Amino acid sequence: MGYFSKFLGITAALMLMSVTVAGAAEKDPLKPRVPADQMSDAKAMKNPIASSPESIAKGKALFEGKGTCFNCHGKEGKGDGPAGAILDPSPRDFTNCKFHKKRKDGELFWVIKNGSQGTGMVSLIPAAINEEEAWNIINYERSFCKGE
Ligand code: HEC
Repeated sequence: MGYFSKFLGITAALMLMSVTVAGAAEKDPLKPRVPADQMSDAKAMKNPIASSPESIAKGKALFEGKGTCFNCHGKEGKGDGPAGAILDPSPRDFTNCKFHKKRKDGELFWVIKNGSQGTGMVSLIPAAINEEEAWNIINYERSFCKGE
């Protein structure tokens, strides 16, 4: 009996640990994050920096550097960075092409500037990066989608 309950206890602890390690799920990435009353302004914002190998390289350096994005979003952009593991909802997986199709650059910019309420995604402009840097990072984040 003693052994059996100990076994159950250990099994339960291991199950809990695997849940923690696997991390929480994303909140539906296809639903908009910008509040309805600001959506048309956000969508109208155009990325002033055309996507190019230069811009993507700048974005990558910022994403992995002073922008600190990789801590949560992961170096591969899958939303599995070391600090992201404890967040619920989990950070955005930028390899998801369906997500990119649903969002205008201006909506991504809005979240980087204002944060996503009730999540670990806090405002990072001007705390970590400036506006121009954010547009380069957006070009880099787009490049994580390899397919359609
Ligand atoms: C402390 C952790 C953390 C850091 C650091 C972080 N993010 Fe996030 N990010 C999140 C989380 C969590 C979400 C998911 C929010 C949600 O589901 O609404 C998210 C979502 C996003 C989104 C998706 C917004 C949308 O429309 O759904 C973008 C874009 C984004 N982050 C960009 C960045 C950029 C750029 C940086 C670095 C400058 C960065 N993040 C740094 C945690 C983080």
